[in-house]
Amino acid sequence: MQSATILIADDDEDIRLALNLLLSSEGYRIIEASDAKEVTIQSAQQQPDLILLDMNFSRDTTSGQEGLEILKQLQPLNIPIILMTAWGSIELAVNGLQQGASDFIEKPWNKLKLLNSIKQQLKVSHLKEQNQGYRQLLAADKQKPWICQSKSMLAIEQLVEQMAPTDANVLILGENGTGKSLLAERIHQLSLRQQAPLIAVNMAAIPDNLFESELFGHQKGAFTDAKQNRIGRFQLADKGTLFFDEIGSLPLVLQPKLLRVLETGQYEILGSSQTQVANVRLISATNADLNKLVSEQAFRQDLLYRLNTLVITIPPLRERLADIVPLAESFVDKFCQKYHKANLSIAPCALSKLQQHSWPGNIREFSHVIERAVLLTMGGEITAQQLLLETIDDNASNAVVLQPLEQAEKQLIEKAMSVAQGQVIEAAKLLEISRNALYRRLEKFGINYASE
Ligand SMILES: Nc1ncnc2c1ncn2[C@@H]1O[C@H](COP(=O)(O)OP(=O)(O)OP(=O)(O)O)[C@@H](O)[C@H]1O
Ligand SMILES: [Mg+2]
Repeated sequence: MQSATILIADDDEDIRLALNLLLSSEGYRIIEASDAKEVTIQSAQQQPDLILLDMNFSRDTTSGQEGLEILKQLQPLNIPIILMTAWGSIELAVNGLQQGASDFIEKPWNKLKLLNSIKQQLKVSHLKEQNQGYRQLLAADKQKPWICQSKSMLAIEQLVEQMAPTDANVLILGENGTGKSLLAERIHQLSLRQQAPLIAVNMAAIPDNLFESELFGHQKGAFTDAKQNRIGRFQLADKGTLFFDEIGSLPLVLQPKLLRVLETGQYEILGSSQTQVANVRLISATNADLNKLVSEQAFRQDLLYRLNTLVITIPPLRERLADIVPLAESFVDKFCQKYHKANLSIAPCALSKLQQHSWPGNIREFSHVIERAVLLTMGGEITAQQLLLETIDDNASNAVVLQPLEQAEKQLIEKAMSVAQGQVIEAAKLLEISRNALYRRLEKFGINYASE
């Protein structure tokens, strides 16, 4: 990245010269612009990787208005812009950050700070480009269909189309496997932020002591293990969408740290005193009952209010029977392609079996059942037999059999492992216990599992 091109935009020739010397000696290619018009022309023609933009072009102005205007014009080019402001004009800098600048430095600059900021911004922009590339690849590779034929799903679809282009925060509720993550992707795709990244954070998976570093990033040396600069998720999702998955699992002690950035729109990278402005749209999801958690004082009400501007509750699959047939057809197509099988049809007896099942694992379980059926079907038609749902249904509908508790526990775990096709994380979700709790029981009962 050292060969990146940097445009220095300043009306003061001495400043351009000093910056040019400093940055060329670091291996950057430099272009210069001395007035607003030149900045726009050079940016469009030379497509620099980064712009250092002075806020006051004409010497007699100090309002920074000129810089803000140029900033606005440069926005569509999606080039990281570092503002140069006079010492003490923090308000102007924050204003600039809100208008889309990536960072600011104060004149006279500290060499190390300036070089660090340039490095960091080039890295973020490079990661974003990569992310964009991956997303296009992913989109082309697996066009994930979004099936919604039932009344409740059509109502959700209508709401999503209306609110996706707004910046309203959305909270998605629903049982495991109902499609919360897919819906979050869909909202992002239909939003005005679709060109910027969607960054997901699994709130259940971040160790407490790394929470701030993960979200806000850190600078080298900020704490003992901080050997490198780290870019936080807020910065990675800049101008895009941040998806807080499993928000109900966010420990109470960490909730104030998240609340603060949601309330003020500002945060600090660990080890830096510079204030960053958050520009993200927030989507959160959980299968937990957040109101109940609030009443149990396990979730802060003020945080909930920040997240739930709009709430979408995805109903469980058993309550939207009209989606079963289109889902079955869509998954059969998908898995026939995946396993290079000629297109299979689904017999009416299989469809009615699918409609009768209670689907505790919702669409994820549904997808696994169809995948298995596609693999098992040799002829041209999937019948009820290949769905292998008998045992599950029989167990579900039978009255509870009186048996030793341990034996019942073992059976339940075996069933969950079978529904989840041996995937421990998913089986744990079906049983609503932690992954570690499930591992302990698998060991205890001697049930085989693949280590992940
Ligand atoms: N409406 C839908 N149409 C087609 N496929 C769907 C739909 N909803 C969910 N799926 C598929 O079902 C699977 C589970 O969905 P997803 O992971 O989004 O559920 P989730 O609610 O986020 O689950 P978890 O609670 O475990 O996080 C995914 O493979 C997803 O692509
Ligand atoms: Mg999910």
